[in-house]
Amino acid sequence: MSATSPAANPSLVDPFGRRIEYVRLSVTDRCDLRCFYCMPKGYKGFEEPEHWLSFDEIERVIRAFGTLGTRRIRITGGEPLVRHNVPELAARLAALPGIDDLSMSTNATRLDRHAEALHRAGVSRLNVSLDTLRPERFRQITGGKLDKTLRGLMAARAAGFAPIKINMVVMKGVNEDEVEDMVQFCIEHGFTLRFIETMPVGDTGRDAVDHYVDLQDVKRRLAERFELLPGVMPGGGPARYVQVAGTELRIGFITPMSQHFCATCNRVRLSVDGTLYMCLGQDHNYELRPLLRAGISDAELREHIVQAIGLKPERHEFNEKPDQVIRFMSMTGG
Ligand SMILES: C[S@@+](CC[C@H](N)C(=O)[O-])C[C@H]1O[C@@H](n2cnc3c(N)ncnc32)[C@H](O)[C@@H]1O
Ligand code: SF4
Repeated sequence: MSATSPAANPSLVDPFGRRIEYVRLSVTDRCDLRCFYCMPKGYKGFEEPEHWLSFDEIERVIRAFGTLGTRRIRITGGEPLVRHNVPELAARLAALPGIDDLSMSTNATRLDRHAEALHRAGVSRLNVSLDTLRPERFRQITGGKLDKTLRGLMAARAAGFAPIKINMVVMKGVNEDEVEDMVQFCIEHGFTLRFIETMPVGDTGRDAVDHYVDLQDVKRRLAERFELLPGVMPGGGPARYVQVAGTELRIGFITPMSQHFCATCNRVRLSVDGTLYMCLGQDHNYELRPLLRAGISDAELREHIVQAIGLKPERHEFNEKPDQVIRFMSMTGG
C-alpha cells in the first residue's frame, strides 16, 4: 500500500498500512542531566542554534501534521524545559486544529518553575524519568540531584497533571533491586509506573545494553509480591499494562527488545534541527528545515510529509543490528 494523498484523505498511512497520528517533537538536543545510557559525559556535539527550528517553524510543521490527521504531540528533548519559553510553544501547539492531546516527557528538574504554566498552556499529561529513589545512585546515573527531580514531580502533581507517568529504565547491577520500592512510591503518590528496557541507541545506549534486563522477568518477580491484574489503558502506546490489585496503580512494561511492538507503531519523530525520523531504531529520515527555509508552500510541506511517511520502515532491528543507530536518544527524545 502506498502513502495516502492529503487531498484524498486527511490521514497519513505508511507503506505497511499503519496510520501515523502521533509526532514526538524534540525542542532541544541539550539536557541538564547526563543519564549514562543516553548522553555521554562531556558531550559537546549539540546542534547550532541557527539550525534549531524556530517556534514559528515548529508551529507550521505541526499545523501541517494536524491537517493530515495527527492528533497527538509529545514535546520532548533532550530536556525540553532547558529551551526558553517552552510553555509559550505548548500553548501555540495546543491551539492548533486537530491537535487534541499534548503531552511532555521531562526529567522534572525544572518543573517546580514551569509546571503551572505548562498545565495552563494545555499540556495534559506528563512522563517523568526517574530511575532510582536513592540520592547517591541518582547522582551516579544522571549526574544530578534527586531532590530537585522530586520537587519538580510534586509541583506537577500540585499543578493538576494527571496522569503523571514515571518512566524507569530497569538496569541490571544499577537499579534492578528498586522495582518494588518504585511500585510502593507510585502507589503512595498516585503515579502510573512504566518500566523500560535499555535500547542500543547511540554508543551510550549500546554500552548500557550490558545492563539489559528482560522485563518479562521483572513482571514474574513482581507477581510474587503483588497481585497483577491484566489491564488496559487508553492511549494506544507501546506499554502493556497491568493493575496492582487493591490499588489504583497501573504498571506498564515497554519491551522494545524482548517483545517489539512495531506492528502498531503510530508515530514519527521531529528533531530540533527539523529532521523527521521515521523509526527510533533506524536511520530513515527526511530533512524539512532546508525546505522550510527555501520558502515552500503549505501544500508542498504536506506533500513532503506524505513522502517522508512513505519511508517508514517496517520495524526496528535493535536485536539484529544493534550498531545501527549512531545518534543519541537525546536527539529524538525516546
Ligand atoms: C531521551 S529522554 C527525553 C526526555 C526527558 N529528558 C526525559 O528524560 O524524560 C526520553 C526517554 O528516553 C529514555 N532513554 C534514553 N536513553 C535510553 C536508552 N538507551 N534505552 C532506553 N531508554 C532510554 C529515558 O529514560 C527517557 O524516559
Ligand atoms: S534521558 Fe532525558 S534526562 Fe537523561 S540525559 Fe537523556 S535527555 Fe537528559
